[in-house]
Amino acid sequence: MTFRITSDLDAASAAVWARLHGQVADHDRPGWQHMDPEAVLRQWKYQWVGRQTEYYIAWEGEEPIAIMEISVGTRENLDKAQVSIDVMPQWRRRGVGRQLFDLAVERSKALGRNKILSHTAWSLPGILAHDGGAGPAFAQTMGFESANLPEVMRRLDLSTVDNDVLDGLLSKAKDKSSGYAVRQWIDTAPDDLVDDVAYLDGRLSTDAPMGDLDMDADQVDAARIREVEQTMKKRGRKNYHTGAVHVETGRLVAWTTINTGPDTPEHAWQFITIVDPDHRGHRLGALVKVENLRFFQANEPAVERIDTFNAAENSYMISINEDMGFRAKFAFANWKRDV
Ligand SMILES: CC(C)(COP(=O)(O)OP(=O)(O)OC[C@H]1O[C@@H](n2cnc3c(N)ncnc32)[C@H](O)[C@@H]1OP(=O)(O)O)[C@@H](O)C(=O)NCCC(=O)NCCS
Repeated sequence: MTFRITSDLDAASAAVWARLHGQVADHDRPGWQHMDPEAVLRQWKYQWVGRQTEYYIAWEGEEPIAIMEISVGTRENLDKAQVSIDVMPQWRRRGVGRQLFDLAVERSKALGRNKILSHTAWSLPGILAHDGGAGPAFAQTMGFESANLPEVMRRLDLSTVDNDVLDGLLSKAKDKSSGYAVRQWIDTAPDDLVDDVAYLDGRLSTDAPMGDLDMDADQVDAARIREVEQTMKKRGRKNYHTGAVHVETGRLVAWTTINTGPDTPEHAWQFITIVDPDHRGHRLGALVKVENLRFFQANEPAVERIDTFNAAENSYMISINEDMGFRAKFAFANWKRDV
C-alpha cells in the first residue's frame, strides 16, 4: 500500500500524535500513561538538550495510521540514530512499518549516522508482552540484532505505599549513612551543588547497564544542567530532587529525581538514581529514594502512580524499588543495526 507522510510540527499534528500514541499504548502497553497534546507540542518545540528529533505521521487518505520518531544526539553518540515506529493495530502487517523503516534508514544516513537503535516490547519471566510478538519479529526482519539489554518498567501505585516499610528502609539507611546529609530541591540545583550534579549526571550514562549499545558518556557540565532545567521548565515539567552530601568534603555523592507536570497530574516518572562509586555501600540509594518519595508526595498529593525503568540486570536498584513497592509491568528489548 502507498500512504502519505507528514512531518508538520503544528498543534493539529501534535493532537493526532498524542491520540495515536495513546491508542497504540492501549493495545501494546495497557495502562501506559497517555500524552497530552499540548505537552507533545511543547516537546516538539523545545528539543531535548543535545538531541535533535524528527516526528512523522503516516496517513491513509485522511486517516492517520502510524507515527515515527527519529532522534539523534548532537553532542555524543554522533554515529547513532534512535528510531521508534508505532503502527495502529488495525493497520499492521500491510507493509507500513517496513516503508517507515526505509525512511528511517534514509534519514539516519542523511544525518550522518551509521547505526540505528530501537526498542520493542519483550517478554521476561512473569512479564508478558502484549504486542503478540510483533515488535521483536519486525525488528529481526528489519535486520536488527539484540543489544542484550532487556529493561523493565515498574510502577508504584501510591495508594498501596506501606509507610511502615518505608520507615524501616529509611532507618536502616540512616544507620549506615552517618556522615552524609540529605539535601532537597525543586527544579533548580543549588549553585553549590550544580557541579556535582553535572558530574553524577555524566556518570549515569555509562554507570547504568547499557548492554551492547556502545553508548558514549554524556559530557555534562553545570551549564548543561542549567540548559536541562530550562528545557524542563519550557516543557512544563517539574522535578523533585534529593541528594546526599558527604559532610566531610561537602560533595554531593548521591542523587535521585522524580518528574511530573500539570499535563499528567496523576502520573510521575522516577528518573535517575546514582551513587558515586566511592560512596557505595552506605545505603545512600535507598536513603535518597525514600526521602525523595516523601518530599514528592508532600508537594504533589494528587499523583497516583510513579513509573520507572531499570535494566533487568540492575539488581541493586531493582531490589530498592521492589522494597519500596514498585512492581514490574512491562519489559522491553533494545535492538541495534548498522546502516
Ligand atoms: C512492529 C510494527 C511497527 C510493525 O508494523 P507493520 O506495519 O505491521 O509491519 P510490516 O507490515 O511492514 O511488517 C514487515 C515485516 O515484519 C515482520 N512482522 C511484522 N509484524 C509481525 C508479526 N506480528 N509477526 C511476525 N512477523 C511480523 C514480518 O516479517 C513482516 O513482513 P511480512 O508481513 O511480509 O511477513 C507494529 O507491529 C507496531 O507498531 N508495534 C508496536 C511498536 C513497535 O514494536 N515498534 C517497532 C520498533 S521500531
